[in-house]
This record gives sequence, C-alpha cells and structure tokens, in this order.
Amino acid sequence: MLKLDTTKVAPFVSAETINGLASRVAEAQKALEAGTCPGNDFLGWLHLPSSITPEFLNDIKQTAAVLRSECEAVVVAGIGGSYLGAKAVIEALSNSFQWLVGSDGPAILFAGNNIGEDYLAELTAYLKGKKFGVINISKSGTTTETALAFRLLKKQCEEQMGKEAAKKVIVAITDARRGAARTCADKEGYKSYIIPDNVGGRFSVLTPVGLLPIAVAGFDIEQLVRGAQDMEKAAAAPFAENPAAQYAATRFALYESGKKIEILANYQPKLHFIAEWWKQLFGESEGKDKKGIYPASVDLTTDLHSMGQWIQDGERTIFETVISVEQPEHKLLFPSDDENLDGLNFLAGKRVDEVNKMAELGTQLAHVDGGVPNIRIAIDRLDAYHLGQLIYFFEKACGIHCQLLGVNAFNQPGVEAYKKNMFALLGKPGYEAETAAIQKRLGC
Ligand code: PA5
Repeated sequence: MLKLDTTKVAPFVSAETINGLASRVAEAQKALEAGTCPGNDFLGWLHLPSSITPEFLNDIKQTAAVLRSECEAVVVAGIGGSYLGAKAVIEALSNSFQWLVGSDGPAILFAGNNIGEDYLAELTAYLKGKKFGVINISKSGTTTETALAFRLLKKQCEEQMGKEAAKKVIVAITDARRGAARTCADKEGYKSYIIPDNVGGRFSVLTPVGLLPIAVAGFDIEQLVRGAQDMEKAAAAPFAENPAAQYAATRFALYESGKKIEILANYQPKLHFIAEWWKQLFGESEGKDKKGIYPASVDLTTDLHSMGQWIQDGERTIFETVISVEQPEHKLLFPSDDENLDGLNFLAGKRVDEVNKMAELGTQLAHVDGGVPNIRIAIDRLDAYHLGQLIYFFEKACGIHCQLLGVNAFNQPGVEAYKKNMFALLGKPGYEAETAAIQKRLGC
C-alpha cells in the first residue's frame, strides 16, 4: 500500500496542527459521501472503482483487441481530463524508448490537446498510408481542440481505409445524449462508450476515457482498477489510518501557513505525465474564488540543474511533495574502472537506484534546511496496480481538500473566458455581439 510520510513538514507546521484538522476532514468526507457538498452532482468518481464490473472491463478489452489487431497506430483525441489520465498511465508504464524499441501493439499517439498546425500536419503526415484508428474523447462533445483534430483524422481514416472499415476503428467516448461527438457516433454507427453524467473530466481516468487507451496500449486495466479499489477502501478509513485524508489536511495546514505553491517532484522520468495529470486535477479543482494551492512540478534530478536554485533559495512560499518508487523494474550496477579517471570507483558495484535514492534523501534534507516542507509518497513499484492506488489517492485527497478550502471541486467556470474570446475572434455564429465588442477593444 502507498505510504505517506509527513514528518518533514514538522519544522513548519506541527503534527498537532495537522491532526487538529481531523474533525474538519471527517466532515468533508461525510459531505462527499452524503452528497451535500458543492458540485454534488459530480460525485460519481467517489465509488467508481468498486462499481467497475468484470463484464465492463471485458468489453473494454474486446474493443482494445480490435484496435490492436486492426491498427498500426491509434490516435487518442482529447484534451484536459479527456487525455491526461491515459497519457500519464501509458507513459509511466511504457519503455522510456518506446518509439525506438517499438511494442507488440499499435503506436499510441495523442491529438486534440493543442491547435498547433505543425503538430497536426506532422501527425497526419506520419499517418499517411498507415492503418490507424481514432478514439475520440470528449464529454461535452463540443471542445474545439478535440473536434478540430477529429474532423481531420476522421476524414483521413475514411480516405485511407474506406468508410466502412473506418467505422470499425473509430470509437467515441462521450456523453450519453448531448454534443456533436454523440451525434456523429450515433449517425456513423461507431462503437461508443458513455462518460457518466456524474463524473467530471479530470476524475474520469477510471472510466473508458482512461481505460480504453490504456488497454489499447497493452497495459493491465484489471490491476489498475484493483489498485484504485484498494485505495478506495484505505481512503475511507478514519483519519489516523487514511493517507488521502492526511495528505489533504497537511496541504491545507501548509496553505494556511502561507505555503501557496506545491511542487510535485519525481525521481523517475516516466512519472512526468503523472505530474501533468495531477496538476490538472488539483489546479482545475481548487483554483477558484481567488483561492487554491498553485500546483507545479519538477522531474528530478534533471530539474535540480534548472529549478534547484529557486527551490532551495527562492521565495519561501513553496512546499514539495515527492513521489518515490521503492523498487525499479530493472537492475543496473555501476562498473568498476581500473583507471578511475572519473573518480567514480566509490560507486562501483552499487545499483543506479541507490545513487538515485541518496540524491532524493540529500535533496530532501537540503530543501527542508532551505525552508521547504517535504511530503513523501512512496509506492512499491511503478506498475498498473500502484498507479491505480495513486490515482484514487489523489482524487480523494483533492475532493477533501476542496471542501476544506470551501470551493466547488467539480466545476471550472474560469476555463470559459478564453473560449468566449476565441469564438468571438473567429466569428463563430451566435457570437456576433462578442465579435463586435472584441474588435472594438482591439481597435480593428
Ligand atoms: O476536467 C475537466 O472537466 C476538463 O479538463 C475537461 O476534461 C476538458 O476541458 C475537456 O472537456 P471535454 O471532455 O468536454 O472535451
């Protein structure tokens, strides 16, 4: 089971202060369970792991098997919560040099998460002449970035494979009734999955949104779900045994003490996108009403040579949360060298991971000395089971922390501002008044 260590927070916020939040945390948990918190129509994630059936997973695996056997590449079109979870798990479980060593299944590519013309041009050029499938993921079914990419990909897929064959390899994951993605899937007769009404994008990795791409990539979705199920139980326990509750309380106590930025650090480059997923989960959930911890991230030790100075010695408004993997998948020993020109013979015979772990410990001590509270989250291995634990752990902690902050975790009203301006600038029908106003503002 995932282990949480908050002892290196003690010099900054006492254990009594954190434990003193236990009753508020219990109330927050009760409000989530009873559905009395703000945004209570989006609590479907809370008992999602335990509600997943073997039949449902088998259906996902069957669809994945079709895509794996029919396609050389599968493009996952989606943005925000409609792609980050899948991307994070796939990256964490894949070989670091996947694009060079290949895999026994299709290449998994992502699109619809940006509007870069070069990105889309290079993607469509790569797909030229290839048998490829598309998983079109959008809860609203109307997100511009995703819809743009899907229009291009659908056309190319149909042109290259023929309309009937394309129907076998295009899958939609969207709302049951609303949105253009639903209309298109129903009209074309695509295999489709429903994103439950009561599960928001950033809490949807354990729905088909995450599970299908992860299964297409060849990873064990049963183990992922089992890890989440075990954490669902652990995160329902009383405060003293509940890591999610303790993490939420610790973050809140630090925030109240003036620590406004949390840096999620990892010592395994494969965890880079877990941090991207985590940033969206926490950033979009709690950054509202002029409140919220700013979620940042670093890959270590890489970023000790770029952000290390700031973390050690910059403005003291940060705290650090480290995800540490106890056991690497591989074993690699440093060789001895007769000449010892690099002076590294003192490491001969040691595992690379031992050096990494000492770097982690040394960094933790230095950062705490420099005024940065440190939270440590340890998982035994980087596998599907432990990632399932980690995902649910963060979701539950986020739900609790937003209650402590007094914000609605499950909406994102701030995201609309850029869309309104973009549609006005592009002259979208229905935005005539906004177009006139923005043109006046820009003096054109
Ligand atoms: O967490 C969220 O709700 C958002 O980040 C959405 O996932 C993102 O905006 C994509 O929305 P949609 O799935 O409707 O295309």
